[in-house]
Amino acid sequence: MIQDLWLIGIGTGSPAHVTCEGMQALREAAVILVPQKGTGKDDLAELRHRIITASGTTARVIGFDYPVRDPELPYLERVEAWHDEIARRWQAALDGAAQAGPVALLVWGDPSLYDSTIRIAARLDPRPAVRVVPGITAIQALTAAHAIPLNTVNGAVEITTGRRLRDHGWPAGAETVVVMLDGECSFQNLDPTGMTIWWGAFLGMPEQILHHGDLAGVSDRIIATRLAARAEHGWIMDIYLLRKA
Ligand SMILES: C[S@@+](CC[C@H](N)C(=O)[O-])C[C@H]1O[C@@H](n2cnc3c(N)ncnc32)[C@H](O)[C@@H]1O
Repeated sequence: MIQDLWLIGIGTGSPAHVTCEGMQALREAAVILVPQKGTGKDDLAELRHRIITASGTTARVIGFDYPVRDPELPYLERVEAWHDEIARRWQAALDGAAQAGPVALLVWGDPSLYDSTIRIAARLDPRPAVRVVPGITAIQALTAAHAIPLNTVNGAVEITTGRRLRDHGWPAGAETVVVMLDGECSFQNLDPTGMTIWWGAFLGMPEQILHHGDLAGVSDRIIATRLAARAEHGWIMDIYLLRKA
């Protein structure tokens, strides 16, 4: 039974992204749950361990394996079943160890943004008291890397996914759109007239790559860079901000 669950945002790839509050929480945790395989990104697993070591915590570190999503199920059902199974695996991995005190999980970026850890925590029975320690999001890492403001003066911002951009096109009336979780450079499907893109991959990491410019002019370069970087590293995480003049 988990009484206290701490979800600690760790930023997007630099150990320096973890806040003082995050480091303190790691030191005060009794147990830290860490995904050990199945993510397909060993560099990211290693970063989690570097952060834990740097915090100087004496917490017990317990690994759990991510389940595989069932490709036979429709998308939403597949995600629901996956979350249920992750919650079960947290509980199984802890098996009594949770009695020792707060259980911490290191969450990529910030737990509120395109991350389901908070939703998975709500599946635990009995429900633990959940504490969220905010982290730097990929959006902040992107705007900081390009030294740009997220919004125009008094402007709104829409945050969406590559899938939604492909399926529904440019959001009606939007001026600034941030696109995450896009494995297919979905900006290719847009009319680039009057559009500027700020793109970033591996933000916060030594491999960080940035491109920006008129969408029509820079689009091919981003596609080629992304392809080459993905081939070189075996994985890639990228995000971009599009602004319509
Ligand atoms: C599952 S979401 C997690 C977002 C995270 N919770 C946050 O606060 O940024 C993963 C997506 O975030 C973006 N992302 C996360 N880390 C990134 C990084 N270091 N560089 C570029 N994009 C990143 C990518 O769009 C990626 O597909």
